[in-house]
Amino acid sequence: MKKDLLTLYDLSRQDFEVILDKAGRLKKMLYGGVPHESLRGKVLGLLFDKSSTRTRLSFEAGICQLGGVATFLSRRDIQLGRGETIADTARVMSRYLNGIVIRTFGQELVEEFARWATIPVINGLTDLVHPCQILSDLFTIREKKGTFEGLTIAYVGDGNNVANSWINAAARLPLRLHLACPEGYDPDRRILERAINETKEGIKLFRSASEAVSGADVVYTDVWASMGQEDEQEARASAFRAYQVNETLLGYARQDAIVMHCLPAHRGDEITDSVIESPRSVVFDQAENRLHVQKAIMEIVMGGSERSAT
Ligand code: CP
Ligand code: NVA
Repeated sequence: MKKDLLTLYDLSRQDFEVILDKAGRLKKMLYGGVPHESLRGKVLGLLFDKSSTRTRLSFEAGICQLGGVATFLSRRDIQLGRGETIADTARVMSRYLNGIVIRTFGQELVEEFARWATIPVINGLTDLVHPCQILSDLFTIREKKGTFEGLTIAYVGDGNNVANSWINAAARLPLRLHLACPEGYDPDRRILERAINETKEGIKLFRSASEAVSGADVVYTDVWASMGQEDEQEARASAFRAYQVNETLLGYARQDAIVMHCLPAHRGDEITDSVIESPRSVVFDQAENRLHVQKAIMEIVMGGSERSAT
């Protein structure tokens, strides 16, 4: 059976544990110089409609370390950019590739691709969600704190794709999620309502950043204007002014709280230079862990030897 990773909502609690445990083993093997070429001969496609540094490189390096190869496909270089349908593209690509990572605008494109593809489809970010990022972040939190169980994660800023994936994760895992977003910039309402109805530990939406951060173990932020929202940058900068992660805001968190940002960061906007450079910041470990966690995802979804063409 084909396995996709389209949103974290599709994973069970056990799936999270399996992926993170495998990522831990793969990280140890890489550091120990132990070969782990479980995907030798496999080909991963990377179909990207948006810019990327971390996602592209961590998947490319990851598949290479697993013995496979990556091929990067920007829309303007393939026939999709000239009107070939998703349905045809997905079926054709399934004949050559063993898995595909898609980064695009609409979540519908990824879902449509997955409907037609016979290979695993991994969501490498859409306007709606960023599942690989939050899986990696959970791994980083577990590394730094020993567990994510019972912790309070405070997400401060825009209710964007990263926030939505945090909500999906919080619906499945025993952690508390506090979100602080200005009015008009809430996370996706359907994702939020569904998760609030399903979670026991609690997901709360605050207007006050300091209230959300009070007693938090993890303080997380992301850009105020995501890819595709460049025109809104100015309006957003004024709406989000009270949501900057700075020393004053961090004063409300636990003393041992860590600071996270998925990067790229706009220093001086959503986070100050001094906070992102402080010992509490784990942003570069976060970036590295994309590699280990995505290798685990690839092993799980691309590891089978079966091939189905229909
Ligand atoms: N965090 C993240 O997805 O980074 P890129 O946009 O560089 O891939
Ligand atoms: N919310 C950001 C995340 C970038 C990794 C964006 O979509 O641009």
